Amino acid sequence: MDIKYTLKPASERRTEPFRPEGNVGFGNLRTDHMFLMDYRDGQWQDPRIVPYGPFEMAPGAMSLHYGQSIFEGAKAFMHEDGEIYTFRLNKNAERMNRSAEIVCIPNLPEQMQLAAINALIDVDRLWFPMQEGACLYIRPFIFATEDRLSVSPSNQYTFCVILSPSGAYYSAGVNQAIRLLISKQFHRAVSGGTGASKAAGNYAASLRAGKAAAAYGAAQVLYLDAGNRQIEEVGAMNHFHILKDGTVIIPSFTDTILKSITSQSMLELGDLLGCEVRQETVMLDKFIADIEAGEIIEAGGFGTAAVVSPVGSYIFEDGRVVTVGNGEVGEHTLRLYRLYTDMQKGLVAAPPGWVQKVERRQG
Ligand SMILES: Cc1ncc(COP(=O)(O)O)c(C=O)c1O
Repeated sequence: MDIKYTLKPASERRTEPFRPEGNVGFGNLRTDHMFLMDYRDGQWQDPRIVPYGPFEMAPGAMSLHYGQSIFEGAKAFMHEDGEIYTFRLNKNAERMNRSAEIVCIPNLPEQMQLAAINALIDVDRLWFPMQEGACLYIRPFIFATEDRLSVSPSNQYTFCVILSPSGAYYSAGVNQAIRLLISKQFHRAVSGGTGASKAAGNYAASLRAGKAAAAYGAAQVLYLDAGNRQIEEVGAMNHFHILKDGTVIIPSFTDTILKSITSQSMLELGDLLGCEVRQETVMLDKFIADIEAGEIIEAGGFGTAAVVSPVGSYIFEDGRVVTVGNGEVGEHTLRLYRLYTDMQKGLVAAPPGWVQKVERRQG
């Protein structure tokens, strides 16, 4: 792919490594540039890196009206050699195309996505936040741009990648257990819908439920299936629980659950984690009974943003609270978090291909 570079003048770009004071937070900052590529006349074209800034779009652009828009979220880390490494980025590129298929967006070859992201990180590498636990958060997205008001797939799209120097997702990170609202009123997805995609509309639909969770003092909603029998996933994470023998259980992937790359990684790591990790259908009633009987000793969420989020308690809409174990962060959860983040940081060897160096091409 022949990328055209239109970079900011050197006087307006970062020239020194980024050493932030205090936690930079999650998703707040941007780097100097972004990657853009358009789809028209049946092909992806005009790959370019330009200064970060607003782009022009017709008021009739179809993504604004019918939500034909998808995104991904990945992270890159700095290892002890001072180089930046992406983590399982090919899985994000693969899932982007799964999302694209679900909302009728044309396929964007994985190699093009990877080349785009690597080139952008290379150009803006000085923006990597030099801070413990920090990363470059990568946000690729595709949205419909055709100026047409009929409800049908757009013929034109833009693929964009932006980067955000980020710290921990929750300020307390893995050290504080969160509460989840188990909602029988709000549902994230139904079978046959868009739940298995990272379609923008799924997140718009989750905002009202998120507000309800906050009113209950909960960080996010734990969604059930439309019949309120099975546990599906959390607003922006898959769910897991841990049995008293240390076995980790993740609800089976269905077309109403986003196939989390963190969950897939935990499943693939298997023995390396020192415990069994498996998937099964998780029935709500049994789940609650097993927590109360002490059969389930820890629980949490898996996702790129927070990696592993321990859950200390659940609250129902009638106010009933169920505490997992002693409500604190458990040792198994901490072990998963440490091993996984050590792999991301290059401190522990990850399986072949998971960690890829961002090559230095731009001087
Ligand atoms: C709905 C939903 N489920 C699960 C996840 C976790 O997926 P991953 O581990 O790939 O970040 C995310 C975040 O990407 C999400 O938005």
